[in-house]
Amino acid sequence: MTMNYMSGFGNEFATEAIPGALPVGQNSPQQPAFGLYAEQINGTAFTAPRSANKRSWMYRIRPSVVHKPYERIDNCLIRSRFDEVETTPNQLRWSPLPLPTSPTTFIQGMVTMAGNGDFHTHAGVAIHMYVANTSMKNEFFYNADGEMLIVLQQGALRFCTEMGIIDAAPGEIVVIPRGIKFRVEMNEPARGYILENYGALLRIPDLGPIGANGLANPRDFLTPVAWYEEVTEMCDVIAKFQGNLWKGVYNHSPLNVVAWHGNYAPYKYDLSTFNCINTVNFDHPDPSIYTVLTSPSDTPGTANMDFVIFPPRWMVAEHTFRPPWFHRNFMNEFMGLIEGVYDAKEEGFLPGGASLHNCMSGHGPDADTHAKASTMELKPVKQEKTMAFMFETRFVSKPTAFAMSCAELQRDYWECWQGLKPTFKRP
Ligand SMILES: [Fe+2]
Repeated sequence: MTMNYMSGFGNEFATEAIPGALPVGQNSPQQPAFGLYAEQINGTAFTAPRSANKRSWMYRIRPSVVHKPYERIDNCLIRSRFDEVETTPNQLRWSPLPLPTSPTTFIQGMVTMAGNGDFHTHAGVAIHMYVANTSMKNEFFYNADGEMLIVLQQGALRFCTEMGIIDAAPGEIVVIPRGIKFRVEMNEPARGYILENYGALLRIPDLGPIGANGLANPRDFLTPVAWYEEVTEMCDVIAKFQGNLWKGVYNHSPLNVVAWHGNYAPYKYDLSTFNCINTVNFDHPDPSIYTVLTSPSDTPGTANMDFVIFPPRWMVAEHTFRPPWFHRNFMNEFMGLIEGVYDAKEEGFLPGGASLHNCMSGHGPDADTHAKASTMELKPVKQEKTMAFMFETRFVSKPTAFAMSCAELQRDYWECWQGLKPTFKRP
């Protein structure tokens, strides 16, 4: 299986499905091998600093420009403007969206829950969910508005991309860069979360005093080797461009890249390989200690978006309230649960569900969890079989009209804190 992937984060990869397809010593020879076309894809401005510059060279059967004109199609439940409804300061939580009962592809099953910023200014994110049960056939997708971080919650997915095939299962994440075409196949119903990142490209965070190792280690990010299909049937390519969906008709599969090299490519990451750093005496660090990937902004330390996970781990803090404490935050927290139970909310926050706590809205453990955690005997315990995550953004995530009106919105969420009675006793 590892033969299908190359290991490392943001490396300069070089891969060819046919030996000899990659040119040696130059990028665009007068006649690429085997009659292929050379094409560059730039994920950043040409002049981005070398440390942030992302581009790849593709050697393909036909260049990307060969297609009929794109035409506008319905956006379904995908949104890119977040002013449909006024944003409430209330804490929000949703039960899992139901799996579809009629044939639904990954793209048809995408629904925008919240978002902020916009693609015009390369700032902010959109947060979608997907529920699907049907493979895309003769249909492909690319997103010109942002890169897509896909968090699988239920059901394995196969991503057939221009740059190779990624097989992913719940517990793994997949990142598809802006512009890369792909189709999604599945053999079972699937559900998950999508972070569409309009801002700076996702990267692994600096580690500061942690040192050279820890958190998500670069070697655990896997990028597929070159793979292509030589298919000359008519097909549709759906583009997300300036917030709208467009459809272009092609007379061949766009997955026709025989070889490529560069550092702009999709990748996957198994969340179970995350090396947790945490307290070994008392209290607990802020959740930033669990950052897997970050999209930095122009303000140091204030991320456009941090992707943070809460994986299985030992809890050993002494004389400490161990679950996440009550807090209010400048940053905005959209959370999801992949499996198990989250330690601040033992009920109501379900696998496949979501919650949203925006700027300065108080939140924290519910009354039952608080009562239990305040009196429990503090032996070392292992938090097992759990994987919650957070899309933490600097801008308020504004729920869509769908998110505020769907049946899955838990309209009684606020009640879970009402049992927190005063226990103050004047000495
Ligand atoms: Fe929080």
